[in-house]
Amino acid sequence: MGFLYRKFVRQLLFNLNPEVVHDAVIKTARAAQRVEFLNSMVRLLTKAKDFPLTVAGLKFHNPVGLAAGFDKNCEAARFLAGLGFGFLELGTVTLRPQPGNPKPRLFRLRDDHAIINRMGFNNAGAFDAARSLERLLPLPVPVGISVGKNADCSIDEAPKNYLETLKIMYDYGDYFAVNISSPNTLQLRSLHGADKLKRLVEPMLDFASGQKKVKPFFVKIAPDLEDADLESAAALALEKNFGLIATNTTVNRSSVPAYWQSYEGGLSGKPLRALSNAMLSKTAALVKGKVPLIGSGGIFDGATALEKLNLGADLVQVYSGLVYEGPFLVKEILEYLEKKNWQPRR
Ligand SMILES: Cc1cc2nc3c(=O)[nH]c(=O)nc-3n(C[C@H](O)[C@H](O)[C@H](O)COP(=O)(O)O)c2cc1C
Repeated sequence: MGFLYRKFVRQLLFNLNPEVVHDAVIKTARAAQRVEFLNSMVRLLTKAKDFPLTVAGLKFHNPVGLAAGFDKNCEAARFLAGLGFGFLELGTVTLRPQPGNPKPRLFRLRDDHAIINRMGFNNAGAFDAARSLERLLPLPVPVGISVGKNADCSIDEAPKNYLETLKIMYDYGDYFAVNISSPNTLQLRSLHGADKLKRLVEPMLDFASGQKKVKPFFVKIAPDLEDADLESAAALALEKNFGLIATNTTVNRSSVPAYWQSYEGGLSGKPLRALSNAMLSKTAALVKGKVPLIGSGGIFDGATALEKLNLGADLVQVYSGLVYEGPFLVKEILEYLEKKNWQPRR
């Protein structure tokens, strides 16, 4: 089935503008998920072996999740869950709606199996996302909500902005991903600094600990981090008991042709894999299995998913792989894990 997508559907879709295709996919998924027969059909076609595991206190059917940024407004989650994912990370959601950066802002690097995006957290805002999820919940898989900051909010004001978003979204997510690593919001990555990160996550963790249900948190880190920033983020994760997602997209262009140097934004897909894996390995060595890790960056098949699980990830996420390999990617990965007799650590 994956073969049919790669041979025919991808060919067709790749002749069209990437953002137009993405919006059409979300719209179609949103409409399709209202028809239970279609949901069941999709589930049947993507069915694969279960790998039950518990991470951060949450139960998953398998370790392969959808990465943040695909369903920014949390509107197609029921359909997406049907593609066989073990979990979905929705968003990134900001407090207030915002248009994102000017178009064009999404580019396919076809020959490199990669994407450059400078979307800039285009989204309909937290209230809209919450309303959407209210209609869609309960879902058959755990849902993470990625939280970011509005572009017009200063770095000093960021903790308040994130916290307000979290408060609106809290009832709708099973876990929360604090996104400090998008390269497309000015200075966002400066939040990796030890003091700034503490000042950002502490109020969110305090809020969660005062709720009836205390939910787990992850911080999503950049692949371009200096060792000192990674070490302080890992130390804080151990102290405060939150997980880490390694990694977001990169601003590094050394693994793609010079032509793409001038394209601003975050690079994802195959050229990100080595950098992202290196960051995952370093992170795993620092946290020594004491906090949960999610691996993201350059997963295109079973082997590249297993590679991250072997490097220390408890769960993995895909985005660019889904665009290039199609809707049967999760099934293909799970079949590979079965063939390799993979067993969850947790
Ligand atoms: C078009 C696009 C939009 C993205 N938007 C977000 C986002 O809003 N929040 C986030 O945390 N990551 C975002 N990402 C990063 C992905 O979640 C993922 O971490 C990254 O693409 C690496 O994985 P991949 O190589 O499988 O694509 C985005 C990626 C792409 C390609």
